[in-house]
Amino acid sequence: MKDFDAVLRNRLVVREEAGLLRALRQAVAPIDFTSNDYIGLARSPALFAAIEQKLNQIPSPLNGATGSRLLSGNAPYTEAVEATLARIFFGDAALIFQSGYAANVSVLSAMPQRGDTILCDELVHASIKDGMRLSLAKHHNFRHNDLQDLEERLQRATGQVFIVVESIYSMDGDTCPLEPLVALAERYGAFIILDEAHSTGVMGEGGSGLAVALGMHDKIAVRIYTFGKAMGIHGACVVGTHSVVEYLVNFARPFIYTTALPPHSIAAIDCAFAYMQEHGAPLQQALRDTIGYFVQQVQDLPHVSGNNSAIQTALYPGNAYVRQVAREWQAAGLDVRPILSPTVPAGAERMRICLHTFNTREEIDLLARCLRVLPAAGP
Ligand SMILES: Cc1ncc(COP(=O)(O)O)c(C=O)c1O
Repeated sequence: MKDFDAVLRNRLVVREEAGLLRALRQAVAPIDFTSNDYIGLARSPALFAAIEQKLNQIPSPLNGATGSRLLSGNAPYTEAVEATLARIFFGDAALIFQSGYAANVSVLSAMPQRGDTILCDELVHASIKDGMRLSLAKHHNFRHNDLQDLEERLQRATGQVFIVVESIYSMDGDTCPLEPLVALAERYGAFIILDEAHSTGVMGEGGSGLAVALGMHDKIAVRIYTFGKAMGIHGACVVGTHSVVEYLVNFARPFIYTTALPPHSIAAIDCAFAYMQEHGAPLQQALRDTIGYFVQQVQDLPHVSGNNSAIQTALYPGNAYVRQVAREWQAAGLDVRPILSPTVPAGAERMRICLHTFNTREEIDLLARCLRVLPAAGP
């Protein structure tokens, strides 16, 4: 036992010496520029009350699902909520997962087969990368949002080709060029898998995401929506044809071999989307206003992304430098975290800033002042 501990300790020391040791922390400062609660649903008392009320209305309530969806863990309520999700996301069918991580690992590990090729944007989320590692298909990155590089790879790809992209990228906050991407995929007979984690809730009617907002949902083979970000709750769903859902029920190991979500989570999903049907448009507008105000304050700063999403970045190259910036901002009252390499490529270390409907103008002014104070080009 002691020896095993020493092995683990050695590896942790290596991490620590590289300045990369992770640790669980509470909020580091009072002003939230870190959470994914973009439109404030996680902290909404009205949504909390709606979920509580719904839980009391569920016929024959249970504390837990009691088993996998394929055994005792299925319920009419879960299927009814999936039917609602399918309607919201304009799909034939939807399948709920415990998390976006489980959904992505499921889709990527189960769908592409030996002999197939997965081409994914180099900046896709770790859950997509982990799913690809479990797949027997070949997989290659293409340069971020670079359709020319993608096309060159499409020309060389063998078997059925899957293109994997995100609607809004989690580290850069930029948007995937979905319309030309769909045209390119169609030319090469490739299927698109689209992760809508950061657009669920913030875009599209009722929070239905980018593909629906652009009317392109029918052109995407598989869409993944997550509920732990703008929806303020937890879980995810995969949307596609009935065959997509039936296939996952049969082949997706993270779906099959795990206890289903409890009724509480299903009620939360139900209520969060009902809430969005009613309040989604003004919340999305409030977020656009916050983003617009932030961009206005920082438009002369070349190290700040200033894009049109809730995720903004400010580059401070070098792990030591970006950590120093984070400490100073945190001391000023901002809950912000540095993104270090190798999570992002060396030289692209950055402060990641999440904007919210509840961030006041004064808070954004303070953030803008912090962005101005420190030198932008290296320590
Ligand atoms: C693009 C993307 N996909 C998937 C996930 C995973 O979603 P979840 O937190 O629901 O597991 C995340 C979360 O960080 C993400 O950013």
